[in-house]
Amino acid sequence: MTLDNYVRIFDTTLRDGEQSPGATMTLEEKLRIARKLEALGVDVIEAGFPAASPGELASVQEIASVVSQCEVAGLCRTREPDIEASWKAVSVAQKPRLHVFIATSKLHMEHKLKLTPAQVLEEVRRGVKHCASFTKSVEFSAEDATRTDLPFLKEVFACAIENGATVLNIPDTVGYTMPAEYTRIVTEIMKVVGARDVVVSTHCHNDLGLAVANSLAAVMAGARQVECCVNGIGERAGNAALEEIVMALKVRRDLLGCDTHINTRELMSVSRLVSQVTGLSVSASKPIVGRNAFAHESGIHQHGMLRDRRTYEIMVPEDVGLTESKMVLGKHSGRAALANRLNELGYRLGAAQLEGVFERFKHLADRKKNIYDEDLTALVADDVWNVPIRYELVAVEFKSGTEIAPWARVRVNIDGKEACCEANGNGPVNAVVQALKECTGNPDVSMDEYHIDALSTGSDAQGKVAIAISGDQIISRGQATDMDVVIASAKAFVAALNHRAYQLELTRLQAAADA
Ligand code: KIV
Ligand code: ZN
Repeated sequence: MTLDNYVRIFDTTLRDGEQSPGATMTLEEKLRIARKLEALGVDVIEAGFPAASPGELASVQEIASVVSQCEVAGLCRTREPDIEASWKAVSVAQKPRLHVFIATSKLHMEHKLKLTPAQVLEEVRRGVKHCASFTKSVEFSAEDATRTDLPFLKEVFACAIENGATVLNIPDTVGYTMPAEYTRIVTEIMKVVGARDVVVSTHCHNDLGLAVANSLAAVMAGARQVECCVNGIGERAGNAALEEIVMALKVRRDLLGCDTHINTRELMSVSRLVSQVTGLSVSASKPIVGRNAFAHESGIHQHGMLRDRRTYEIMVPEDVGLTESKMVLGKHSGRAALANRLNELGYRLGAAQLEGVFERFKHLADRKKNIYDEDLTALVADDVWNVPIRYELVAVEFKSGTEIAPWARVRVNIDGKEACCEANGNGPVNAVVQALKECTGNPDVSMDEYHIDALSTGSDAQGKVAIAISGDQIISRGQATDMDVVIASAKAFVAALNHRAYQLELTRLQAAADA
C-alpha cells in the first residue's frame, strides 16, 4: 500500500477500557461516551464484545444504531457463534466493522487454546473468511503478537490478508515490548502487506509504562491505525492513552509527519466524562488532561512563562480544551439560562431530566454563590447517568470534633422501605460508612480507594469524592459532590453500593442466560 500520512484513531474505551477493574458502564453511560467520541472525531469506536452476553450484544447494537460518523466495531473470537453475534450487533451501523482475534504466541496456543500452530492457522483462515462474507471492513488481531515467533506471526497475517482482512492489528497484549523491538515487528509485517490496501494497526498495553512510546514507534514504522483508550484506562495498567497519542502526533508533526481527524479541543471534556462515568480519577500529573499538566509552580518557570509561554510550554492549554474556569451561573439564573449552558456543554436533556437538574441547581445555588461548568457537569451526572437506584440516601447526621467521639446516623430508602442506623467510627467519614454498611446489609464490603478533591477553583468549591469498594471479587465505584465533604462521602459510598447492586444483577442475569 502507498503509505498515506493519516493515522486512524480506533477507540476501545467501551471495550478494553471497560475491562478496567470496576469500570462497568450502563448502556446510557456508554451511549453518552460514544456520542462524545463521535464529536471528538475518532475513526472507529469498538463498542464491545457481543458474544459475552445478550446484554452486551444489545448494548453494542444500540451504540451501532446511534453512531453515524465513525465505524463501529464488535470484537469476536474466530468461532462461528461469536462472529454471528458480533455481526448481529454491528450490522445496524452505517459503517460496521468486525474485529476478529486469536492468540498466536506459543504460550497462549499451548496453555490457553490447546491448539497447534496449524490449527490456529486454520482458525484464522476460517474466522477471517467468515467475517469477510459479511463486510469488507474486517480487522484481524494476533493476540500476544509481540511474544509470538516472528516467522509464524508473518504466516498468520499473510493468511488473514488472503482471506479478506483489511486491517492487521499487532497487539502488545501484556505490555511487554519496547520501541526498538516493536519497530522491527511492525516493519516485518509491513513487508507482508506489501503493496496491498491493508492498514497495519497497533494496540499497546501499558504494563511497563511504554504503551504510548510503543504506539508511536509503530507509527514511525508504518502503522496507520492506533488503538487506544481515553485516559489510558484498560486491562491492568491500561491501554495507550488516546489524548497522549493524539497530542504527540500533533505537537511532533515535524518528526512523525502524520495527522489525525481529532478535534483536540474536545480532549479535556471527553476525559472528564470518562472519569466521571467509570469512577477512575485522572492523576494530577497525567499528561495532557491531568490537573497539573499545564500548571507552572517554580519561580523560574513562571518567570519564563511571563516573558514567552513557549519557554516552558510545548502546547497551549486551549488546544486540549482547557479554558479558565468561569463563573457561569448563580442563584438568579433561570431554567432557560441553565438549559442554554448545558446545551453549550454538549448535554441534550429531556424536559423531565432538565427539571431534575434545575431543582438540584437551585439547591446548590442557595449554598454556593458561583456555579462553574464543573459544578453543572457534576449535577447532570448525579441526575442522569447513575446506575439504577436501589439505595437512596435520605439523610445524614454526624458529630465530630476534638472532644467528641465521631458518630453518625443515616437514613436510607431501600427498595421503597426506609431504614435508619447509627455507628461510631475513627472519624466522621468512617462513622458514616459504618452506618451505611449496616443499614444496607453490606457489612463485608471493604473500601479500597478514597479520593477527595476540589471540584472547581475558589474557596467555596464543592468537594468531590471518588470511592472504590469491593466484596466477592467485585469492584464497584461511586463518585459524588457536595459542599460538605462528609455528605459527599456518604453519597459516593451509596453510589458505589448502587453500582455493586447493578453488577450483581448483571451477574445474575448472565448466569440465568448461561443456564
Ligand atoms: O490486548 C489484546 O490483545 C486485545 C485484543 C483482543 C485486540 O485487546
Ligand atoms: Zn487489549
